[in-house]
Amino acid sequence: ATNRTFTMLKPDAVEKGHIGAILEKISASGFRIVAMKLTQMTTADAEEFYAIHSERPFFPELVTYMTRGPIVAAILEKENAVDDFRALIGATNPADAAEGTIRKMFADSISENAVHGSDSDDNAAIEGAFHFSGRDQF
Ligand code: CMP
Repeated sequence: ATNRTFTMLKPDAVEKGHIGAILEKISASGFRIVAMKLTQMTTADAEEFYAIHSERPFFPELVTYMTRGPIVAAILEKENAVDDFRALIGATNPADAAEGTIRKMFADSISENAVHGSDSDDNAAIEGAFHFSGRDQF
């Protein structure tokens, strides 16, 4: 069935000028853009968004990274959106990501991996609502 996922083009991808190329791949892969904006997360935002990782050793580094500059946040719609988007972005560590995936093409390391994709329908809804009101979803 058609469902939705949530993505962020992370600060490294924006800094390197990859917004256009990544959005082109997303559109060419059949995702419809439901909501989208350029925004910057505060420290409190990132700590809440990534609360599930708060006990991990990389958590402080993750919060610093995700708040250091603007991101593109977006909600995407497609048949099987969550799983198909995770396939499009590739493995968390770009070194393990398949050829042609967004992380293989645009990410440099496991910590700066260019793009976020929700891992479940429930998290897609939570993460989308974190960044967008109902009025800003089309
Ligand atoms: P993502 O899977 O989208 O969400 C959690 C993020 O934490 C992950 O992307 C990386 O940006 C970061 N991350 C995951 N594992 C590590 C790690 N071992 N070291 C540093 N950062 C990591």
